[in-house]
Amino acid sequence: MDESSHIEDEDEYEEEEVPVVGIIDIRKEGYRSDQLYCAHLMLRQAWNGNFGAPVDDLLRSKSGAKVLDFGCGSGYWTLEMATEFPSSKFYGINPTASFPGSVSPKNVEFIVSNVLTDTLPFKDAEFDYVFARNIMFTFRKPNFESIVIKELLRVLKPGGYIEFVEEEITEGHNRGKALLRWNVDGLKPWLETQSIDYEIPYRFEECLKSTNQLKDVMEQKLKIPIGKSNGFIGELSAEYIMNTVKSMADNLISIMNLTNEEYDNLVGEIEKEVRDNEEDNNAYFYYRRYLALKM
Ligand SMILES: C[S@@+](CC[C@H](N)C(=O)[O-])C[C@H]1O[C@@H](n2cnc3c(N)ncnc32)[C@H](O)[C@@H]1O
Repeated sequence: MDESSHIEDEDEYEEEEVPVVGIIDIRKEGYRSDQLYCAHLMLRQAWNGNFGAPVDDLLRSKSGAKVLDFGCGSGYWTLEMATEFPSSKFYGINPTASFPGSVSPKNVEFIVSNVLTDTLPFKDAEFDYVFARNIMFTFRKPNFESIVIKELLRVLKPGGYIEFVEEEITEGHNRGKALLRWNVDGLKPWLETQSIDYEIPYRFEECLKSTNQLKDVMEQKLKIPIGKSNGFIGELSAEYIMNTVKSMADNLISIMNLTNEEYDNLVGEIEKEVRDNEEDNNAYFYYRRYLALKM
């Protein structure tokens, strides 16, 4: 990678034969109604793999690597990576025990820990690779920048890679009216009331550079099409959006000044828009991935 940072040419997802990544054929899996699993499958499919940092050789090496999945949620990424790279050791950290209780494979350890109340239960410079996905919008300002990044860099070794994967929360691109309304009148105002900085992906590259601990900072942007006219990735992204819209009902009903029934009607309208999205509409959204090397 170049010393200087840059946004790579925008990657556009192209439908290919469905890859068998790791050990499972994703078409056979039940992903519906599980938002995190849906996001995991969508991103794995869209990026054509589980990670972007150049750590493949290290993860496969005999001595392996020590890897942290920060904010691991249900642990889908951790478990799949541990299966694919048995010589490496994977730690999943989450403030609640949302991950599986008994763990297989053996090279995984899940730990309950909240970075906002305690330092992470690791020494300085323990990890070769730190990964964090879809976590920025779970922190109120300024905790992500003032606490989380510092703590993740503390546990990362010099010469180790850090990687973040995050969604852009925009009004969307060629979205239908209902989804646009949900976003502009619901999601964004709610994020604001929570002091969640949904614009952080746009300046995150600068934010990483300003730590003065990282080099080769790189941002990659990926366009994800929505709806079944875009093949399997479009089905996954539609499912992901619907899971998100449904899961936000309790938060958004009052801010949107809707009754339960009116929110359900809006969900129905969004469902129609995203699932049936015609090719001409060409609706899509973006994910960003940030990679950097600790000096
Ligand atoms: C949207 S989920 C993403 C889960 C997982 N990274 C994935 O991609 O499937 C956000 C996760 O951040 C976790 N989280 C929230 N506050 C946290 C904190 N203080 N420290 C670590 N993780 C936190 C949540 O518990 C949740 O599991």
